[in-house]
Amino acid sequence: MTTCRIDFDELISARSLAIDVSGIRRVFELGARLENPINLSIGQPDFPVPEVLKDAAVDAIRADRNGYTLTQGIDELRASITAHLKDDVGWVVPSDDLGLIVTSGTSGGLLLVLMATLNPGDEVIVPDPYFVVYPALTGLTGGRTVYCDTYPDFRLTAERVEPLITDRTKLLLLNSPSNPSGIVLHGDELRDLVDLCEARGVLIVSDEIYDEFTYADSRQDGRCPSPARFTDRMLLVRGFGKTYGCTGWRLGYAAGPRPLIEQMAKLQQYTFVCAPSIGQAAVVGAFGVDMSPLVRAYQGKRDRVLASLGKVTEVQHPGGAFYAFVRVPRDVAGSATEFVERATERNVLVIPGNVFSRRDTHFRLSYAAPDEMLDEGLEILAELLSGRQ
Ligand SMILES: Cc1ncc(COP(=O)(O)O)c(C=O)c1O
Repeated sequence: MTTCRIDFDELISARSLAIDVSGIRRVFELGARLENPINLSIGQPDFPVPEVLKDAAVDAIRADRNGYTLTQGIDELRASITAHLKDDVGWVVPSDDLGLIVTSGTSGGLLLVLMATLNPGDEVIVPDPYFVVYPALTGLTGGRTVYCDTYPDFRLTAERVEPLITDRTKLLLLNSPSNPSGIVLHGDELRDLVDLCEARGVLIVSDEIYDEFTYADSRQDGRCPSPARFTDRMLLVRGFGKTYGCTGWRLGYAAGPRPLIEQMAKLQQYTFVCAPSIGQAAVVGAFGVDMSPLVRAYQGKRDRVLASLGKVTEVQHPGGAFYAFVRVPRDVAGSATEFVERATERNVLVIPGNVFSRRDTHFRLSYAAPDEMLDEGLEILAELLSGRQ
């Protein structure tokens, strides 16, 4: 046997080391110490996958649809996404101008667009607070994250974005309904962002993974407001995981300018190869499944959060997703991290704001939890937030 001379400290790239997971790891560690936590930290729905989709997945396995698929996705699923996008945003995809690709989750689509567009040092404007992976993926793909501070109302407006645009800005990452704040932008705010970005040569990448979780009070013409209603010179990234409770199936899709989608498809061919075949077959009929009762139930959970915590602190009205980003009053704790530790001592698990932000003043609560658990957690959080513990 020869001596192994691999130095594992030397082996790991600066690119990988630059990703900091300490905040998230800390929450997991805190959670692992609890026996039956009141877990309000989870970023996925608490309902099961609709039976018809489960059946379709099983049928796909039994029908031996277990091999690679075309990189851009199976024809039946592409056709159903085409019909959905025509109906929802009025796009005709695919066409001479527009392409469509089925991806390995929404995350897959995000990674591909960053890989396809960023040269070293190119800038990506990201809202702060943000979905944790945005800055990490931007760094991984050689870009530089430019944070757009959206406190205290968490609205990513053209006014806030405009001063951040430089001649290195390539992309604006937009996420409405938002993780972690649940904020849904209005049509006029989106139109202003589209006008600004088109005038300044910046591509909007609109991460609409929570589009179906847009509550009645934040819908426009019955739908989730999207920049795609105003332009098709942008990239639309959506997913199936949250809407149908199948996050582990790793399924999303991206639609937008054909030259960009072609590059993303080439990169997918050399990385993910294709989105999971069974999942693709399983979600062909997904757009026909009525999820509105579940969305209404989640709206009810959102209302419980507002009714309870809105009395004791500042909570910006979440119009969608299943999160609230809750302010920790200064006289209650020195930081959100400190508050979260206190909540953990009472068996309630939420995530401190510094996991999603450069500030540590809020915590993210996920109300994708059974009502009894949610109510129990809200009671404890309200007590802690009001300083009456
Ligand atoms: C805003 C946002 N985008 C993308 C993702 C990742 O989605 P997927 O599981 O489809 O990769 C998440 C997951 O939490 C998210 O919150």
